[in-house]
Amino acid sequence: RAVENSANTSMEGSAGRLLPSQAPLPKPFQRALPLPPVLKPVRTDADTDYYEITQKAATAQILDDLPTEIWGYEGTFPGPTIISRRGRRTVVQHTNELPVPVVVHLHGGRVAADQDGYPTDYLHPVSGRVADSHGKGLNGEQGSRDYVYDIDQPAATLWYHDHRMDFTGPQVYRGLAGFHLITDDVEQSLGLPSGERDIPLMIADRSFAADGSLAYPSVDGSLLGTPGVTADFMSGVLGDCVLVNGSPWPVLEVEAVRYRFRILNAANARRFRLRLDDGPSFVQIGSDQGLLSEPVTLERIDVAQGERFDVVVDFSEYSAGTRITMVNERGEGTTAQVMQFVVSGPGKDDSRMPSRLAELEVLSEADVVATREFTFRRGGAEAHGMSLWTVNGEAFDPERVLAQIKVGTVERWRVISQNNEHPFHVHLGAFQVLGSSGGTAGRSDVGWKDTVNLDNGGQADLLVRFEEHQGLAVLHCHNLEHEDMMMMANFEVV
Ligand code: C2O
Ligand code: CU
Repeated sequence: RAVENSANTSMEGSAGRLLPSQAPLPKPFQRALPLPPVLKPVRTDADTDYYEITQKAATAQILDDLPTEIWGYEGTFPGPTIISRRGRRTVVQHTNELPVPVVVHLHGGRVAADQDGYPTDYLHPVSGRVADSHGKGLNGEQGSRDYVYDIDQPAATLWYHDHRMDFTGPQVYRGLAGFHLITDDVEQSLGLPSGERDIPLMIADRSFAADGSLAYPSVDGSLLGTPGVTADFMSGVLGDCVLVNGSPWPVLEVEAVRYRFRILNAANARRFRLRLDDGPSFVQIGSDQGLLSEPVTLERIDVAQGERFDVVVDFSEYSAGTRITMVNERGEGTTAQVMQFVVSGPGKDDSRMPSRLAELEVLSEADVVATREFTFRRGGAEAHGMSLWTVNGEAFDPERVLAQIKVGTVERWRVISQNNEHPFHVHLGAFQVLGSSGGTAGRSDVGWKDTVNLDNGGQADLLVRFEEHQGLAVLHCHNLEHEDMMMMANFEVV
């Protein structure tokens, strides 16, 4: 077993432990950045767009010589991008041709609780139902099911990914992740860079076994059996190969104009601190849940797992042939670089960079009707002889509800990390970050969010609201190994 970092928090400043690849990794900046295809509806009617996605195994050419089996939505990694318009209904029929149960979560979606991808709402394989390691988990649909999203939230960069109870880490790692963008009239009226100059960037690290397959240190070496990672990787699995849209350290040719990039950290355990080396600043225009009220110029952005940063980058000052590297200041060696931009030459730019973006309601502390505290730490419960990751000292139990929240009200939540780093994520609702200590909440934690990082020993104060949908949902740590090792809790919106 290859182990480099023995500490809980690695030298790289991310929770987790590095799993070095055994296969040769490609040289950086050789491949063109792939763009995930935009999925076309199979039909549409007056108020609904219908899509179909088959989840299946496929072969991807990620490394130079060796093929890699991935699990993908439509067999691609990332999966196809879905674009929904506010005010319309999106119905996605998923068919499961994989050998394991799956759950589809629309991350950031303010959708009905029974469509949101609750961890035990299984979609079992076409080939038959699969029990979990306790001989349970046979509930849910088999073969195909519809996910119905009544989209009534502002334009935003959402993503969809697997959320199977106990197995989210390995299943997302295999490739089950894609973008789901929401657009609306406000966004369309702004004149932001669009079309070929509006580019999603899904950033994730992976590790490859000697045969080119994706390496993941599961407890029993399989994805079918016992849940969980081996003890050494309980704090998170870090790979040494950085993929953007599924390709290692790719290159994007750009004209000397403005581009919009929708940056998503889809890694299991790695945080990225991105900067454009000898390049322009990032102008942040949106966060997790949509556009900001005004742009924020940032030299670097800290992106925790699950977070999205919608940015505009202006290449107009750069001459043809200039190469600008997106670096990861938290990385070391192979993980210190992410991708490269090459300026091809001048271009015609009719985009705008408005000084005002969207009207944002600012939640007020005066409206708070309840306050709660959620503490994230390791300890309080055990499994496989290992101390688990817990929320308020309890391991996830689908039968236990930690909080009941009145729909439409504002609550003040203090989320605390007692040890390790934890990107806190909540389903169904959204929050605004009031402030934090020891954390990174700051200039970039603006607007409406659904994920916020907690540094080791840090905390954040949030104003949270669940706008409309009632029912049972989860909050959890978006370090996927922590999540699988039980750092998750139920709440109910009533
Ligand atoms: Cu992106 Cu509950 O997850
Ligand atoms: Cu965590």
